[in-house]
Amino acid sequence: MRAQRPKEVYVFPTDAFASSVLEGLGSEPKRLESRYFYDDRGDALFREITGLPEYYLTACEREILSCQPEAMLADYEAGTPLDVVELGAGDGTKSRHLLEAAMRKGFDLRYVPIDISAAALDHLSDHMRARLPGLEVAPSRGDYLTSLHELHEKSSRPELLLFLGSNIGNYPDDEALALLASLAREMADEDMMLVGFDLRKDPWTIHRAYNDSAGLTREFNLNLLERINRELGGDFDLDAFDHYEPYDPVAGVASSFLVSLAQQTVAIDSLDREFEFEPFELIHTEISRKYSPGEIDHLAGQSGLSIVRTLHDRREYFADVLMRKQLPNP
Ligand SMILES: C[S@@+](CC[C@H](N)C(=O)[O-])C[C@H]1O[C@@H](n2cnc3c(N)ncnc32)[C@H](O)[C@@H]1O
Repeated sequence: MRAQRPKEVYVFPTDAFASSVLEGLGSEPKRLESRYFYDDRGDALFREITGLPEYYLTACEREILSCQPEAMLADYEAGTPLDVVELGAGDGTKSRHLLEAAMRKGFDLRYVPIDISAAALDHLSDHMRARLPGLEVAPSRGDYLTSLHELHEKSSRPELLLFLGSNIGNYPDDEALALLASLAREMADEDMMLVGFDLRKDPWTIHRAYNDSAGLTREFNLNLLERINRELGGDFDLDAFDHYEPYDPVAGVASSFLVSLAQQTVAIDSLDREFEFEPFELIHTEISRKYSPGEIDHLAGQSGLSIVRTLHDRREYFADVLMRKQLPNP
């Protein structure tokens, strides 16, 4: 049975971008929320990043999903109803392998991609229609928890939740725990969730993933300022900002910053505000957390989830971890 809805933690109002920018640039130190990377341009840039040789995450996870889909479906009875619900689906190209396997096994299958980016969902629906014509696709635009809860108000079909791409690593530890705990409360006893974790490894390999020679990650980060210019009437001079992304191997965190290269004032019309920047002042935009197996165990246990099995790529750079909610002792 699904539990009562927990207190809502993640709200997504329509003017959220404007209020988030106002709050973030008015803070000390300045920050911008990474969820706003993904407008049309951001989606396209992210798709290009996933094809870069340095950005190993996507290739590793694709290898897991294409080589081991049976291990993700083994606990569901073939021929029965199954909703594969993907949180922050992006272009969904990796999930296609799992969906293909589920179709072969004859599940009464429905695919529900959830994403805040309309462009990502449009692209994904076109892709799935072309590659898996028989698949029922029911996209839902919105925040992870809100959309998932709305789905549960209408449907009680068994689910396999997908939370791939190390999206969980974009949250600080306390928020990652709160998010997984909220997802666990949304799950029925028989549901499972596959969570993608990028693992700790040679720090240079991680450093290069976020400092690619083609400069795409730089462009992706700077697109956030362009998005403010386009959507909120900002006058950011993109040549006056740089991308900086160091990896701290002790904390296991890559942190993404935009650096102001000069003393400057930036006006944002729709906020009716100007923001002052000192030379080399930073705007924090994202973290990408890397995990040890022990840290994954701890996070799952503290979130009310138990690990069913862990799947790796050949190099053991990445882990897709299948979890279900902890059940009370009988
Ligand atoms: C880094 S991309 C990863 C996409 C895909 N999961 C993958 O593994 O390639 C993150 C995606 O999550 C979406 N996203 C980020 N925060 C979200 C939120 N709070 N609710 C719903 N979608 C979100 C973004 O729009 C984007 O498409």
